[in-house]
Amino acid sequence: MRNICVIGVGYVGLVTGTAFADLGNRVRALDINEERIANLKKAILPIYEPGLGELVERNMKAGRLQFTTSYQEALEDAEFAFICVGTPEGVDGEADLQYVRAAAEEIARLMKKPLIIINKSTVPVGTGDWVANIVRENQKEPIPFAVVSCPEFLREGSAVSDFFNPDRTVLGSMDLEAADRVAQLHLPLRAPIVVTDLRTAEMIKYASNAFLATKISFINEISNICETLGADVKEVATGMGYDKRIGPHFLEAGVGYGGSCFPKDVKALAYMAQVHGTHPQLLQAVMDINDYQRRHVVRKLEEIWGGSVSGKTIGLLGLAFKQNTDDMREAPSITVGDYLNGRGAKVRGYDPVAMKNAGKIMPYVEMVDDPYLLAKDVDALIVLTPWNEFKQLDMRKIKELMKEPILIDGRNLYEPDLMQNIGFTYRGIGRGYDGTKTNG
Ligand code: UDX
Ligand code: UDX
Repeated sequence: MRNICVIGVGYVGLVTGTAFADLGNRVRALDINEERIANLKKAILPIYEPGLGELVERNMKAGRLQFTTSYQEALEDAEFAFICVGTPEGVDGEADLQYVRAAAEEIARLMKKPLIIINKSTVPVGTGDWVANIVRENQKEPIPFAVVSCPEFLREGSAVSDFFNPDRTVLGSMDLEAADRVAQLHLPLRAPIVVTDLRTAEMIKYASNAFLATKISFINEISNICETLGADVKEVATGMGYDKRIGPHFLEAGVGYGGSCFPKDVKALAYMAQVHGTHPQLLQAVMDINDYQRRHVVRKLEEIWGGSVSGKTIGLLGLAFKQNTDDMREAPSITVGDYLNGRGAKVRGYDPVAMKNAGKIMPYVEMVDDPYLLAKDVDALIVLTPWNEFKQLDMRKIKELMKEPILIDGRNLYEPDLMQNIGFTYRGIGRGYDGTKTNG
């Protein structure tokens, strides 16, 4: 049992803290957001994340997990402090480190005994050294500490299972003893542990996310070529994925990547490269393709109607940036909704869990309670999030309810032939000529 303090209980901090408590450690989780902490004390979660609620409750009851807004309390017995505050996008695309700075300053002021400070938030290369300087400068008296980078690789929607079944743990530090102690914390996870220097660990995180984003933009570009040549990108991806050098994952063409990580991490990496005089051409292309792809579903609609969407009513099936989350950060639905609204269309939306968050960002969207109400009298439906519950909808009923049976499947959830047989004007992403499958 180790004493761990986690700073910031967003997606990453809450999952990390709770999971370490579940592994038998004593965890104090801090957040400056008082409402968030007051709710967590009653086991009310700030986010939707499958499996997390039950884990929080169990570990609170067992006395291993506590929530606080006081740095003093959080750091009291701590041997390890995980920094998990947000690192949003700054004005030029660089990561905004003001919250990391605030956390480092507070740690420095209030630590009472030797501490290992672990950067879990995604931070620019060099931040570990910067944090060490801040702590050194703000300590009232010198107390030994070390900084270790341990980037998170948690996907929203499957973050709990990703924590307990990691492909690897990456640790970066100039202090090998500290890295070894953090490695001990991760041993129960039985995954390979890569120990390297601070900057390399920070780079591994950016390079990993940039590579995954590249895979998505690659398959999206292929999907557009498939559309012009009459090939089916889903089958192309399956055929490619059996090659072990390529792998089957992150080859789903769609409306482009969103979320709290890929958009800002690719931008931040490109920014770092530019600032240091290199030309991140590939990263730039990845971002350009992603921007193009977000609007592709609307272009398909405009093509079918031979012009504007003005005056039409359009239903958005799914709003969250991906399935199994209520997170709307950088969701493609925002780009699509804003575009439609800006061109005079009426926008209706349905999502199993993200409607509350979406309503704050897209107040012009009329939210409805289920997919069938969404379909009623709309001129077109656009699928934007691949929720499982959308896969088995009664599509005949959906078609009957719609004013015009136009289905733009931005996530390739449905079979083109089947949808055409039901009577939809169906367009998928990269599924043959016009986005429809042809046998000719
Ligand atoms: C995380 C990482 O921090 C980010 O770098 C990574 O790329 C994506 O995941 P996330 O957990 O999604 O971010 O952040 P968010 O949901 O914004 O939560 C951050 C929490 O930190 C909030 O609850 C906020 O109140 C808290 N916080 C922020 C502090 O406790 N102290 C601060 O000074 C600032
Ligand atoms: C990502 C990283 O995967 C994770 O390791 C961590 O660094 C946090 O950021 P997350 O953003 O939660 O996780 O979800 P992820 O499953 O990676 O999906 C990101 C976006 O890409 C979503 O919008 C998703 O719909 C999209 N995506 C994913 C595709 O469009 N096609 C794919 O094949 C895979």
